[in-house]
Amino acid sequence: MRSDPFSSRFELAARLVREAGQLALGHFRSSGLQVGRKGLQDFVTPVDHAVEALLVAGIRTAFPDDAILGEEGGTHAGRTDDDAIWVIDPIDGTINYARGLPLWCISVALVQAGEIRFGLIFNPVADELYTARLGLGAHCNGRPIRVSSARLPEDARIGLGYSRRRPVGLHAGAVRALLDARCEYARIGSGALSLALVADGRLDGYWEPHINSWDVLAGLCLIREAGGWSAPFLHGEALVEGNPVLACTPALRDFLVTTFSGITAA
Ligand code: IPD
Ligand code: CA
Ligand code: CA
Ligand code: CA
Repeated sequence: MRSDPFSSRFELAARLVREAGQLALGHFRSSGLQVGRKGLQDFVTPVDHAVEALLVAGIRTAFPDDAILGEEGGTHAGRTDDDAIWVIDPIDGTINYARGLPLWCISVALVQAGEIRFGLIFNPVADELYTARLGLGAHCNGRPIRVSSARLPEDARIGLGYSRRRPVGLHAGAVRALLDARCEYARIGSGALSLALVADGRLDGYWEPHINSWDVLAGLCLIREAGGWSAPFLHGEALVEGNPVLACTPALRDFLVTTFSGITAA
């Protein structure tokens, strides 16, 4: 096995996401959870903040000079020479979490020199920890994972995300285009978890016309290491502004690239 210069950060992340998962699970389905609104279809609870605080404190204790970008504002300007930055989504699928649906996760990635060095996605309800490190494969609870062998649209199920930051008709156009090709779709309301499911062969692809870096970087690392394909995401101002995301099995790439580049608002 090749040595990994980010091993100690990866080990820390694996410990922290499990701790953070226990914290979030402890409040899951509790009565009286306050749900705030940050924007259209963008919600936040005190648990999102508490989980992010736990993660940021753990990173800052071990690596005080590392830069951190957290969805809920736990951002910290780093001072390391290598440009490493932790990218954190404390709860992805907050609306599911707030409504008691067991489809949410914690997502942590480390980016350095334009590469996602590692990514972790923890689903506390299922007790599934997805991990991937650049060049070292992808795993779920230590079990190696691979993307599915789906080749044909009619055998595939593609995850879709719905973004209020793009014309709403695009979502309807995407559903229409997939159904026209006899392809199934699923919208589970957590982009990060959807990407983990693609890496684990439970979905065959994921598309969203605009998504933030904290939603996708860990999942894109998983998919790459699980033998999948994704369109370039980390270009332009993606870290802070987001970008479209498309990731899938290699065999479905041409079909999905053509499908999603051709959609118009239905
Ligand atoms: C959202 C979820 C959702 C996706 C949105 C994200 P949040 O993240 O991943 O599935 O469609 O683009 O913002 O707000 O639950 O962390
Ligand atoms: Ca959000
Ligand atoms: Ca998110
Ligand atoms: Ca979130």
